[in-house]
Amino acid sequence: MKHFAYREKELYCEEVRLQELAEEFGTPLYVYSRNQTVENFHAIDSQLKDLDHCTCYALKANSNPFLLRALAEEGAGADVVSSGELYLALKSGFKPEHIAFAGVGKREDELEYAVKEGIYCFNVESTQELQLLSLVALRQQKKARVALRINPNIDAESHPYISTGLKQHKFGIEAERAVEVFRFARGLPNLEIIGVHTHIGSQIVKVTPYVESANFTANLVQQLRSDGFTISHIDFGGGFGVQYVNALTHEALPSEPGEQSAPSAADFFSAVLPVLRQTGCSVWLEPGRSIIADAGILLTRVLYVKESGQKKFLVVDAAMNDLLRPSLYNAYHQIVPVTLDTYEHEKVDVVGPVCETGDFFAKDRLMSKVKQKETLAILTAGAYGFVNASNYNSRLRPAEVLVNGDRVRIIRQRQSLDQLI
Ligand code: LLP
Repeated sequence: MKHFAYREKELYCEEVRLQELAEEFGTPLYVYSRNQTVENFHAIDSQLKDLDHCTCYALKANSNPFLLRALAEEGAGADVVSSGELYLALKSGFKPEHIAFAGVGKREDELEYAVKEGIYCFNVESTQELQLLSLVALRQQKKARVALRINPNIDAESHPYISTGLKQHKFGIEAERAVEVFRFARGLPNLEIIGVHTHIGSQIVKVTPYVESANFTANLVQQLRSDGFTISHIDFGGGFGVQYVNALTHEALPSEPGEQSAPSAADFFSAVLPVLRQTGCSVWLEPGRSIIADAGILLTRVLYVKESGQKKFLVVDAAMNDLLRPSLYNAYHQIVPVTLDTYEHEKVDVVGPVCETGDFFAKDRLMSKVKQKETLAILTAGAYGFVNASNYNSRLRPAEVLVNGDRVRIIRQRQSLDQLI
């Protein structure tokens, strides 16, 4: 997250002081760095440069149209999972031939829309979906390209809610039935079976599960080819983990002990690319978090500092409706003051105003000592942040701004009370 850094005591996003943004636009406020977003995309995309490839940004991580436009302009493809995401992708400038449609439960109208738009590939997850897609394509007298999502039964060693590649998960077709389902697909009209799709989970910080998945995929491609299939396409999914803990370091900030850094794009790809390359297939990826997570933060203000028994609570103006990850996954986000004027630390809970005990951002966390009215930055909040925002407790959804050098653009207005009706 090099585009968020302290200069003297002040935290900046690129050339803009975050305290100024909090004052101008109010809090809670999502702030994104355009340069961080684009650089993250190229850090991944450049790893595949000597291959026929497409780095498809997974819109589910953050689908603000301004961010999408920035990525489309850089040559990214799009990984979509609903007609809403397909619509946003097309409106934001992604070309249909760079779009893959994933998801275990695509509706008929969604398949119709995507076939009509001529997207590159459907990542199909069941025999019934194959039948429906074939019917829809037949009706439109078009051919739909298909990759079958195979569940390789690999443990991604991530949070159980975001691991997807084990047998007991709802995703994909079980590995043992893969060839049988490919054969079934071959018999259906108006489908062109081009490849294999895998996605084993999200926030994966180990390289080994990817190597296993690459080996699995390469073996399957070989097996399918000897069965007469022309397999030209591998979609290797997303899931590359990012650094949440000790994301920002400074001599005045406390640091969490014993935390290692997440592998870089180069670490991931130097391990898997040799295996994928030997298949001769084009390689598509679907990264979301690794492109947008550390390009975004959530600014919030301390409403009250409150002591109760042994505990000290910072009650802030953001809540679980703005950023759900801590409540839903007990996810860790580093929280820092935007003006760092003390070396003193203390243990606090950072909590929101929503009427739920689960509405917290940090528990028993050693943080820089802060006072009422100070602005805090909740870091690495660009992915699965705003997209999960809700109106719970009839709170208004936060605003979003995009920073590019010294320029600031509001890319989503804060909701207003009349929009609640
Ligand atoms: N492709 C497929 C088929 C997916 O299901 C996902 C994420 C991605 C790509 C992108 O994965 P990424 O590169 O972002 O890890 N809300 C959770 C994460 C849910 C991930 C869902 N699928 C969180 O906040 O951690």
